[in-house]
Amino acid sequence: MKKHLSIALVCASLFLMCSCASNNEQAPDFDPPIMGWSSWNYFKTNISEEVICGQADALISTGLAAAGYVYVNIDDGFTDGRGEDGRIRIDTTKFPNGMKAVADYIHSKGLKAGMYSDAGDNTCASLNVKPYGLNVGLYGHEVEDCKMMFDEWGYDFFKVDNCGGRHLDLNEQEQFTKIAEALAQCENKNINFNVCRWVFPGTWVIDIADSWRTTHDIWVNWDAVKTIIKENMYLVAYTGNGHYNDMDMLEIGQGFPPEIERTHMACWSIQSSPLVVGCNLYEMPEYSIEFLKNADLIAMNQDRLGIAAPVVQKAGEVYVFAKDMEKFYGPKRAVVVSNLGDEQASINVDVAALGFKGDVKVYDCFKHEDRPELSGNFTLTIPAHDSEAFFVTGKRAEKSEYQAEEAFLNAYTEINEQDYEAYRRPYDIPSPHFRESDSAFMGFYATDLGGWEENWLEWRNVYSEKGGDYVLSLRFCCPDERDITLSVNGEEVYKFDNIVCGLDIEWDLANTKVTLKKGWNTIRLSNGEAKMPAIDCMTIKRFE
Ligand code: GLA
Repeated sequence: MKKHLSIALVCASLFLMCSCASNNEQAPDFDPPIMGWSSWNYFKTNISEEVICGQADALISTGLAAAGYVYVNIDDGFTDGRGEDGRIRIDTTKFPNGMKAVADYIHSKGLKAGMYSDAGDNTCASLNVKPYGLNVGLYGHEVEDCKMMFDEWGYDFFKVDNCGGRHLDLNEQEQFTKIAEALAQCENKNINFNVCRWVFPGTWVIDIADSWRTTHDIWVNWDAVKTIIKENMYLVAYTGNGHYNDMDMLEIGQGFPPEIERTHMACWSIQSSPLVVGCNLYEMPEYSIEFLKNADLIAMNQDRLGIAAPVVQKAGEVYVFAKDMEKFYGPKRAVVVSNLGDEQASINVDVAALGFKGDVKVYDCFKHEDRPELSGNFTLTIPAHDSEAFFVTGKRAEKSEYQAEEAFLNAYTEINEQDYEAYRRPYDIPSPHFRESDSAFMGFYATDLGGWEENWLEWRNVYSEKGGDYVLSLRFCCPDERDITLSVNGEEVYKFDNIVCGLDIEWDLANTKVTLKKGWNTIRLSNGEAKMPAIDCMTIKRFE
């Protein structure tokens, strides 16, 4: 919980101003996503002072610390219930010198130390490894636990799980906000706060946390990695201004073949996810160390703009992700091309889709060299599960296609399709979500928008080089007549009345003229009274 976050808690309107800063070319340098190691994926609850301090040493001896991996995060499994005095008891067979001694050791190596707890009564290990994790969560002890961990023991990072919160059926927004407020009461003002409740929690989380888990737990399995990559395709708008979608720990070094590790590292990097290694650092294959230390991918991840990358082109299961680097609408972009399919596949990468016009210069982030043969549109053939990663530089073209997947859905709480009915919130009104479909341009569309005041969709990244008049087209669909109010830069400018695409047409276009100002514009679609159509994307074309 950093200083700027406590300010945001006190003054929501100030935060709103901040949250528009991603549209500003003069954006400040944000704190980048954290990089480090965590005990959970390999050691589970089998942790101890020896294990944690040993892994801290290994971060240094492997050169990972020098590459930026400086957090040593202790996950579940260090507690032994709560004493009658209300204080968490430490498992002294594992941590004979207590938790402060471990933080002191980590700090003495020039590294940062991470702590773990739960928003409710029990931690997640309590579900499987009893008696670990029973009655050691934050619920009812928010302030004293935070003061102990961050002022007394001196930790720097806090991951807060939600198994106990779910067990008690707590209101997540209220409870995690209470925890953020407890952190704000600590003297330590540099606590990096991570919310972990396994799906995107809702836009409220951006106001209180530095990062938040967006998916189920990762494990050493290709499908787990692929699902995480795909779920993050429509969460792009929530990363920004120093706050990040957390795609979970890296399973690099845990036995994946190189092609999956390339995809893992490239996708986590371009999405500005925290890079937290989950393996035993003493047992990593050489190629894993090399991927983790890839300075180009680390630069992509730690870039000062701190943004995530939407899908800009797709051919079957080959996805092209692209984002600005160093300067908004500047000449350099990061590009990752991933083949998430099970067969080798080719794609003709379109320079215009990447955001450029004319020839481009392509630098290969895995080979660490220029690729002069890739200057105009270029074809890549990528083995199954593999990825390529590039820095592309050239003359920028104005972006004309904006996917629903890169819009900010104000009422968005990620829900799995099967949990949809259970999670509807509030229960009798539409809860916006994404559906995967081959008919959608980049693979997903947004649906169940509208119907209540807060349920709007907004593109905050609409850029016009000169300003002026544009034709705006919405690619939409709905089986019955529906309305959409269109607002540009906060002003209602048009109403799409009674639009319908019918039952047998998948998508239709609704067009109108809009005037954009020079630079950044915000375009909102809303309907406070009734459901809006499903939205695939918006295109804007300048009147010449
Ligand atoms: C949950 C989290 C994991 C880990 C475990 C610990 O499953 O998602 O990352 O922290 O709890 O029990």
